[in-house]
Amino acid sequence: MRPLGLICFLAAIATGVARNDGIDASASFTLRSWDEAFALANATVAQLKLDEKIGLVTGVGQFSSRCVGNVNPVARLGIPGFCLNDGPAGVRPTKGVTGFPPGIAAAATFSRRLMRARGVALGEEFRGKGINMHLGPALDLMRNPKAGRGWESFGPDPYLTGEAAFETITGIQSVGVMACAKHYIANNQEHWRYGLIAEVDDRTMHEMYHYPFLRAIEANVSSVMCAYNQFNGTSSCHNAALIGPNGLLRKDGFQGYIVSDWGATHDSAADNANAGLDMEMPGDYILIGGGTFNSFLGLGSLKSDVNSGKVPSSRLDQMVTRILAPWYRLGQDSGYPAVNFDAQHSDGSGPNNLDVSVRSTAHTAIAREIAADSAVLLKNKADALPLKSAGMDGKRVAIIGKDALMPNLKCGDLNECDDGTMTLGWGSGSNSLEFTVPPITALNESLGAAGAVVSASLSNDKTAGAKAAKGQDVAIVLVNVMSGELGFYQTVNGNEGDRNDLELWFAGSDLVTAVAAVCSNTIVVVHSIGPVNMPWATNENVTAIIFAGAPGEQTGPALVDVLFGAVNPSGRLPYSIADDEASYGTTIVTAPGFPLGFPVINYTERLLLDYRYMDTHAIIPRFEYGFGLSYTTFEYTGLSIISSATNSQVVSFSVKNAGAVAGTEKPQLYLGYPPSAGEPPKVLRGFDEVQLVAGASQRFVMTLGSREMSVWDTPSQSFVRPPGTFTVFVGASSRDIRLTGTF
Ligand code: BGC
Repeated sequence: MRPLGLICFLAAIATGVARNDGIDASASFTLRSWDEAFALANATVAQLKLDEKIGLVTGVGQFSSRCVGNVNPVARLGIPGFCLNDGPAGVRPTKGVTGFPPGIAAAATFSRRLMRARGVALGEEFRGKGINMHLGPALDLMRNPKAGRGWESFGPDPYLTGEAAFETITGIQSVGVMACAKHYIANNQEHWRYGLIAEVDDRTMHEMYHYPFLRAIEANVSSVMCAYNQFNGTSSCHNAALIGPNGLLRKDGFQGYIVSDWGATHDSAADNANAGLDMEMPGDYILIGGGTFNSFLGLGSLKSDVNSGKVPSSRLDQMVTRILAPWYRLGQDSGYPAVNFDAQHSDGSGPNNLDVSVRSTAHTAIAREIAADSAVLLKNKADALPLKSAGMDGKRVAIIGKDALMPNLKCGDLNECDDGTMTLGWGSGSNSLEFTVPPITALNESLGAAGAVVSASLSNDKTAGAKAAKGQDVAIVLVNVMSGELGFYQTVNGNEGDRNDLELWFAGSDLVTAVAAVCSNTIVVVHSIGPVNMPWATNENVTAIIFAGAPGEQTGPALVDVLFGAVNPSGRLPYSIADDEASYGTTIVTAPGFPLGFPVINYTERLLLDYRYMDTHAIIPRFEYGFGLSYTTFEYTGLSIISSATNSQVVSFSVKNAGAVAGTEKPQLYLGYPPSAGEPPKVLRGFDEVQLVAGASQRFVMTLGSREMSVWDTPSQSFVRPPGTFTVFVGASSRDIRLTGTF
């Protein structure tokens, strides 16, 4: 809930400049059916020459073209050289774009509304830059909390990830931009990612790792990116069981094209094309032979393979048709903006950078709203928060920690350092930090306006921090931790993509402990890409903890929104926070395989990730999956479960705001299967949100469809509902269950 007065007061802080340079990013377009799109694609393919077809399925110009990925145009037929571009949290590497919060922040909102709105805003910026395909969303489950790219996706739970996939893709494609679900599949750690062998059994695959991609297909996703790693012994991009005509994606109705991750074609052109790969990226990134079609492996020799019959020409036609069909479906054949930036010059220089800004006040607002609504209030002793602006006059407040500062923009366009505040991880999933409004700016403005006497110690030096905190009425300590993509990029703070451990960086915990030792009202703000150890969480002098996660560029304003109560926090943890890695039941494999080479990683934990593992093994995390406090309280009553005629179960219940201020609740539905089903004790199967003024109630209805009550049955290769009694758990988190019923 956002009281208007405070919004006006705080609006001044959103200093990210909103510029509109006349780009009509939301231009209307005619959405076609897949049938219409395929008819048009077929007609076009009939007119294409062999070289033109090869040009459309092979990347070109990695070091000279304007986008992260490019294919050749067919100018005579009005087909542009498709522009494929990162990343899942906003356009990079360029200027004039919004630094949106990453996937994990969208997940922490537990809000389909915001997931969709984020997708629309992302799509508008990609369209405005002339990008045909957004290289996202990332749908890799956070199998281990240290996984380097976990923050790009939506956490360890397949249901939440699936819903986020559906909403994000629907949003992106609603403005005519193609979305690309990645990375298919079992791309769950950075170490050895170029070839590790993930061994995943059939049921685990369907219920966990494939499930979000199934939801992506249901959202009509245009493309799927096959991953670097091997899946059950075969490289993903030439794995017919995954991408072939009878592979999982096609059996589930996927219509679009399969594109390789950048350099993920480890086999011959014929192997890849015949297995089901439709487009290779980035094509000529390894310049052997010097020619533009000389990709190292993969589709580089496709032309001769087609001429010799190794790859049937009908297969090449199918590849091109699948590439063109989503382009026609989303109306990109008419009035689509031309590329107006140049990824080769991320600083915006050069003649091909047309200095087009796609930022807008609406995008700044959505970035800020998601940042605020993804902040999870983990602790609030004796109502330490919200800070009452009226009561701050003359109060002494110290701001402590280098995480309060503006990030160092010299770190590079992949955000590969953690110098200043942490807004999202590094690698291809990062975005522009250009317009970041750091906590220090927003805190200074808001605390100053409230009459507080503000001082600061903007390093992680614990002696300096304690000195600054001593004698203060309030100490706000900001700490962080980061992770990212291994790739060819540098390690950050000694971490090769995946984190080395679950500790805060730069001795953050020591800083908090030192400050709390001298200040009895220590408020901790954690910026983190995933679970992190917080041994000081129970310290009496730590009165409040805001787990602000990875908030994107509007980090400062969003933090102030929550601190002062303009936004009553409603973020929910999209992963559990336990005290040690062992509580999660998985590891990051860092050792090579035997005798030397890529390791085999057995997914022996099967369905048991995060809360599913902890519930099974009676491990009580410090803060559980789905947890988050509010400045008000909510009561749950009146559970009703009714069988519907369509084999669904309709679950309804009421939620009342039982506190004194308006707030937002995110009720969650977990399902317990009959024991014979072999499922975890409970699995997320529903979530919703409602804003309620004090005293108000709302009735919720959540429907469990038959798939949500089924398990994957390997013999029949289908979802089958097991017989027996199910338990419905409705509550405020995975462990704060308020209502229970059976059917
Ligand atoms: C990443 C992809 C990314 C691509 C292009 C790869 O290394 O795994 O997620 O889209 O590079 O930058």
